[in-house]
Amino acid sequence: MTIQTIHAPIERLEQHYIPPQGLLNMSGNLPPQVPQVFDAEYRAAIEAVLTAHSPMSLIGAHQFRGVERDRAAGTVFTARRLPEVPDADRIIVTNGTQSALNVLISNIVGRGGVLAVEEYTYPTIRQIANLLNLKICSVAMDDEGMLPDAYEAICRDHRPAALYAQPTVQNPTTGILGVERRERIAEISRRYGVAIFEDDIYSLLPTDVPPPLSAYAPELSWYVLGTAKSMAAAFKVAYVVAPSPEAAKARFWPGDRSTYWMCAPMNAATFAQLVASKGVNRIVEAVRAETRIRQQMVAERLAGASCRALPGGLQVWMTLPERHPKSEFAAKLRDRGISISTAEGYYFGEGEAPNMVRFGTGTPPTRAEFERGLDTIAQVYQK
Ligand SMILES: Cc1ncc(COP(=O)(O)O)c(C=O)c1O
Repeated sequence: MTIQTIHAPIERLEQHYIPPQGLLNMSGNLPPQVPQVFDAEYRAAIEAVLTAHSPMSLIGAHQFRGVERDRAAGTVFTARRLPEVPDADRIIVTNGTQSALNVLISNIVGRGGVLAVEEYTYPTIRQIANLLNLKICSVAMDDEGMLPDAYEAICRDHRPAALYAQPTVQNPTTGILGVERRERIAEISRRYGVAIFEDDIYSLLPTDVPPPLSAYAPELSWYVLGTAKSMAAAFKVAYVVAPSPEAAKARFWPGDRSTYWMCAPMNAATFAQLVASKGVNRIVEAVRAETRIRQQMVAERLAGASCRALPGGLQVWMTLPERHPKSEFAAKLRDRGISISTAEGYYFGEGEAPNMVRFGTGTPPTRAEFERGLDTIAQVYQK
């Protein structure tokens, strides 16, 4: 368990995340493209939207937290995970999880505030922390996820305003926090008055995962379910479920006038149509099926390596042996035309990041390109 103020230079992240031109991008973690299902569903949804509405009526005025139809679609989509269908007035339709997090962190934690995060987490948090001069407290983890005792010590000693967590198929570790720990984290959050920002973006591809952490402390939780990891990376729709209708109004409008988090009406309406037509289910199923195939290929090609991966998880989190220091391993792959990411960006603990790397299975646009990348990773690993 550690505490640190983050001043990581932004360039470090850019180097890490934007693969130079010409490289096969396996550092990103996008869902595999499934045009055989997606294209027809998306076209039909757009046609249905444009038949039902005049374009001007859709685009002619701001929709702020979302019109009733789109918030209702958000209740159905988030109820795939939440134990009950939430009230539509608790839903905020945003243009993505990143935007939702920017609003939540700046409005609830605030400039110079304290945010608790898992020891390994989504690297964008570092950039938000830089912008807001936040103090980040990282909560020690094991393979399952956050350790409740470590979280309690952080709450007691540093009084964070909020916890940002991905308890289900954590990025990058793939950990899934068990129910007992979810209950304990919820109880500790309640006792110390810590808001929960739950990012559940990776939860829809695996089957048989526990209910969200937010289900155990709905009155404290801002539950965020984006579409970027289960449907298409640039759909730009993520739903936030606020603790109450009043909180949704207070924090998302007019509580913030300087960020653009609202979903473009056409995207929101198209997604709502896909919910109504059940196209969402068919797309998620296709992404899930392709992900399973790619993860099976990983299990075969990297059978002897120390990898954490799930059949319904997009990424592979790999511990390298000493003979392969992570930066050299990534450099060797770069020389062979493949980009992967090393642990630095994800690691918020003390000292040097461990000798680990992450690669995404879905980012190469075709299975053949993925196979080429995977074979190269396996060859370099075996040297
Ligand atoms: C944990 C996590 N949350 C959110 C996102 C991005 O979501 P969005 O595109 O909806 O902003 C990513 C993408 O890498 C992610 O890994």
